[in-house]
This record gives sequence, structure tokens and C-alpha cells, in this order.
Amino acid sequence: MIPIVNTISEVRQLIKEWKAQGLSVGLVPTMGFLHEGHKSLIERAVKENDRVVVSDFVNPTQFGPKEDLAAYPRDLNWDSQLCEQAGASLLFYPSAEEMYASDYTTYVNMEVLGEELCGKSRPGHFRGVCTIVTKLFHIITPNRAYFGKKDAQQLAIIQRMVRDLNFDIEIIGCPIIREEDGLAKSSRNTYLNSEERKAALILSQALSLGKQCLVQGERNTESLITTMTDWIKKEPLAKIDYINIVDSSSMQPVKIIDRPVLCAIAVYIGKTRLIDNFYWPE
Ligand code: PAF
Repeated sequence: MIPIVNTISEVRQLIKEWKAQGLSVGLVPTMGFLHEGHKSLIERAVKENDRVVVSDFVNPTQFGPKEDLAAYPRDLNWDSQLCEQAGASLLFYPSAEEMYASDYTTYVNMEVLGEELCGKSRPGHFRGVCTIVTKLFHIITPNRAYFGKKDAQQLAIIQRMVRDLNFDIEIIGCPIIREEDGLAKSSRNTYLNSEERKAALILSQALSLGKQCLVQGERNTESLITTMTDWIKKEPLAKIDYINIVDSSSMQPVKIIDRPVLCAIAVYIGKTRLIDNFYWPE
């Protein structure tokens, strides 16, 4: 069985021993309830590092007061099996008390890149993400850390944070893993009932339509957003949170597509908020 470590002091000790042997360390930060998307991150990390730590922590500071923190799916047994199959060396599974002292007051804040998309609809979310990722980077001191491109704004923010705060860590963005019918894999897909699961295909369909328009030469974001909006509105179970096209580095909206962009959407299917995106050019 893969070792499961709950304390910061214990994980630090193990990493110290690995580093003393000259071994490289990869980190895959997760909130658990792992799926094929996480597995692909772990497998990539295993290929590129001597040891791989998977952190499994549902981080309270990145959830808003009305969000699904209490309901967020958890299954440590499943997670440890998947980590072991994927070849990880260790699962770091701390408690909230281990990560945040009762009088905790220090946060890492990202300006500009966190203003739009999920940052706009989930105030405080990226402050929580940057804070926990900083803490994990200090605890694990990985050579490389792996993040999925499904959370594209998160990836851009972490890359910028690592550059701005001089972390000596290589950030690796990994491709979105999809179900056969196109739905991006997500732990939140488990919230969907069968009717909602079918309706959720509207996200990848809208993005394919947007991409098709780009291939045909459309460069006006307003027109692209309207096309995707109209498509999603055909699905009665869907409610758009945002559809936006932003500069892929600054995460700021663009009017005309004359540079690399990220086209990102967030849509509620029933009560479940799903996100998906594509980069242009890919
Ligand atoms: O992408 C996630 O699962 C989380 O935002 C992360 C990076 C593990 C931080 O809690």
C-alpha cells in the first residue's frame, strides 16, 4: 500500500531523506476524489521524477461561503488505490487543522490574472488556491509540480506566482482528459444525475462550435461569445455563469483575437457548476 502521511513534519522528514539521496521530487496537488485526469498528471510526474507526492486536501480557503465545501466528494481509500496504480510514492493527506492554525492570518493574493473568469464569479477563490499551493510548495519543495489545463486560469496564476515569488519549481500544465463523449473529467461530474450528465455535453459542444468559427476565420470575440451563448441556451438545464475569451497570459478579455487566447466557460447544469476551455492556437 502507498504510504499515507498526515503531518507536515513527517512528510518533510521523508522528503529530506529523498533529497539527501539526490532524488528529484514531483508534486501533484489535488483535492482528492481522483479521476483519470488526476491519474494522467500522476503518471506524467512519475515519468519525470524519482519520487512523486500527491497531496489530497480539500482546501477550505478556496471555497466561498455558499459553495460546496461540506458536500465536496471524498474517498481516501479510492484515492490511495489510484495513486498506487499510477506509481506515486506517497499520499500527503493532512487535516484542515494541520494546514491552518486556528489563528491563521497569512494569504497570498494574485492581482490582475485573478480578476476575470472564475476569479470574478468566485471571489477569494484564487487567494485560497495561491495560499495553499504556496504552503504545499514550501512543505514538499518539489522540483516539478503538475496542474491540469482544465483549470486554465489556475494554471496561469500558479505560473505567474512561481515567477513573481521566485519559487525554484517547474510548473507543468497537462492536457484536459475527457470522457468518450467529450465531457471534461471532473470530481464534480459525480454530482450529475443521468439527465444532467447528458445536458453537460453542452459545454464541450459550445466550445467545439466556437473553435470551428475560429478555424473559419472569425476573430471577433463578441460574435464568438454570442454563438456559444446561443448554443448553450438551447439546453434547458444549463445556466451560463460566464463565457469569455482572454489573453492567455494576462487573463484579461480581448476584443479581437490577434494573440494567443484562452476561451473559457463556466456553466451550471442544475446545481453543479462545470468549467471547460480551449486555448487558441492550441
Ligand atoms: O485544482 C485543484 O484541485 C485545487 O485548486 C488545488 C490546486 C489542489 C489547490 O487546492
